[in-house]
Amino acid sequence: METLRNEVLQCQKCHLAATRQHVIFGEGNIHAGVFIIGEAPGRDEDRIGRPFVGKSGQLLDKILDACGFNRKDHVYISNIVKCRPPDNRVPTPQEAAVCMPWLLKQIELADPKIIILLGATALRYMAGSSYKITVERGNWLIWQNRLAMPVYHPAALLRNPGLKRDTWEDFKKVVYKYRELVNPQHYSRYV
Ligand code: URA
Ligand code: URA
Repeated sequence: METLRNEVLQCQKCHLAATRQHVIFGEGNIHAGVFIIGEAPGRDEDRIGRPFVGKSGQLLDKILDACGFNRKDHVYISNIVKCRPPDNRVPTPQEAAVCMPWLLKQIELADPKIIILLGATALRYMAGSSYKITVERGNWLIWQNRLAMPVYHPAALLRNPGLKRDTWEDFKKVVYKYRELVNPQHYSRYV
């Protein structure tokens, strides 16, 4: 994974390279069993060089904590695209397609038991453009022989806190599956 990281840090395959401050490769435990896929780095991530460090990231950490998960031990976090799209716009299909081989290689190396698709963009670019987060969230998908759980993006929860209740139900399913496939002893205060 570190060899791959060094390669991705040099990437000039698309025009996002020209406006980025950092390439945000990903972080967490590559042997964790859970691989979280977000959309794209935002302003805070681009400035600091780590995924999910802004407001969405703080909410993500709270959700993970409620599941008994933390970034160091239980999950690996990356994004559909590794460089910030200007003005935080959604990555274009072309940008996503050019960046996708990096993500596929990361998934292959991490070999996760569970993938979490964080939000509409991750769902669409991983599963197909016809997939709708409001329809698919909370339902396990099979993605290339792996289990994937689509959930609302934390930014959507910040805009619409009414979605938090459903999202918690979805993450509970992830915890149950984690006990089934990764660690039967996994402890979480709330699940
Ligand atoms: N939103 C994302 O989708 N990814 C990040 O890394 C940060 C915010
Ligand atoms: N709208 C989005 O953009 N993302 C979500 O996760 C849910 C609604």
